Amino acid sequence: MKKTVLAFSRLTPAMAERLQADFNVIVPNPKQGDITAQFNEALPEAHGLIGAGRKLGRAQLEGAAKLEVVSSVSVGYDNYDVDYFNERGIALTNTPDVLTETTADLGFALIMGCARRTAELDAWTKAGNWQATVGPALFGSDVHGKTLGIVGLGNIGAAIARRGALGFGMQVLYAGNSRKPALEQELGAQFRSLEQLLGESDFVCLMVPLSQATRQLIGTRELKLMKPSAFLINLSRGPVVDEGALIQALSDGTIRGAGLDVYEKEPLGQSPLFALPNALTLPHVGSATAQTREAMANRALDNLRAALLGERPRDLVNPQVWKG
Ligand code: DGY
Repeated sequence: MKKTVLAFSRLTPAMAERLQADFNVIVPNPKQGDITAQFNEALPEAHGLIGAGRKLGRAQLEGAAKLEVVSSVSVGYDNYDVDYFNERGIALTNTPDVLTETTADLGFALIMGCARRTAELDAWTKAGNWQATVGPALFGSDVHGKTLGIVGLGNIGAAIARRGALGFGMQVLYAGNSRKPALEQELGAQFRSLEQLLGESDFVCLMVPLSQATRQLIGTRELKLMKPSAFLINLSRGPVVDEGALIQALSDGTIRGAGLDVYEKEPLGQSPLFALPNALTLPHVGSATAQTREAMANRALDNLRAALLGERPRDLVNPQVWKG
C-alpha cells in the first residue's frame, strides 16, 4: 500500500506529480475551504508532511499517529518543535546549501539598498520630485571599503562576507560561537565579541538561526552600541531583533538605517516600520528566486521520498531518530 504525503503549504503541480508515482498525495486546496481544516482532517493518515511556514509541534501533531517524517522546504527549522519530534521519533529534514548564494545575494541587495537608499529614491523619482540635481539631503552612504560585521558566520554569512571582502574591498568582522580559521585566512575576517563588532561595524548583518540563545539578541542596549552612521541588516529571523527597540532606534537616529527581510510576526500587514524612510522592508524573500525555490523543492522532495522509502535522507536535522 502506498504511504500518504500531506502538503502543509503550496506544492507546485510538478512537485505533486513527482510524489504521486510513489505516494498518495493530499494537497489542501483554498478553493475547497479552510486550508487548516483540510490539513487537520487529512493528518491522521499522513506518513509524511512537506511544506514551509507552518508551526508544527505537539499541539498540531498529536493526531498524526502514522507520521514518520516532516520535510521542510527551508533551511531554517525554528517552526518545528524538534524535542517533540525526537520524543515521537519523527524525522525532520531541511534544505541547506541550495539557497546559500541566493540568500547572500539578497543580503547584499539589502546592504546596497539601504546604504544607497534605492527604494526611497525610486519612490521619490516616480513621484515626480526630480526637478533639479539631487542635494545632500538625499545622499547615501558608501559600501565599498567599509566594515562589514557578520553575526553568525555560517554558510550564508560566509557567502555575504565573500561578496563584501572580494567584491567591495570591505573589512569583515564576525561574531559567533566558534572561530573560523579558514575564512580568516581566505577573507582576512577578524573575530570579535558581539559588543566589539557592534561598535566597529558600518553594516551589522544578522545571520544567526533563531534559538533561545539568539531570541532578542539585538535590543536597545545593542543598538546603542552601534555607530549612528551604521546600518542593521536582518535576513535571519525576525525575533532575533527586538522590533520595538529597532523602530525606536531608527526613529531617533541611534542608527542610520536598517535593511530587513524578516520580522517578529509574519506576514507583516501593518507596521510603524512602513512610515520610516530609513527602513528598507522586504517580505521574507531571501531564497525567493525561481531557480532556488525549485532547487529547494527538489531537495525537500528527495528527502521526503528517501525517508518514506526507508533510505536515510540527506538532510536529517535530528539523526538520532533515524533507525534505518
Ligand atoms: C529558509 O529557508 O529558512 C528561509 O528563511 C526561507 O524560509
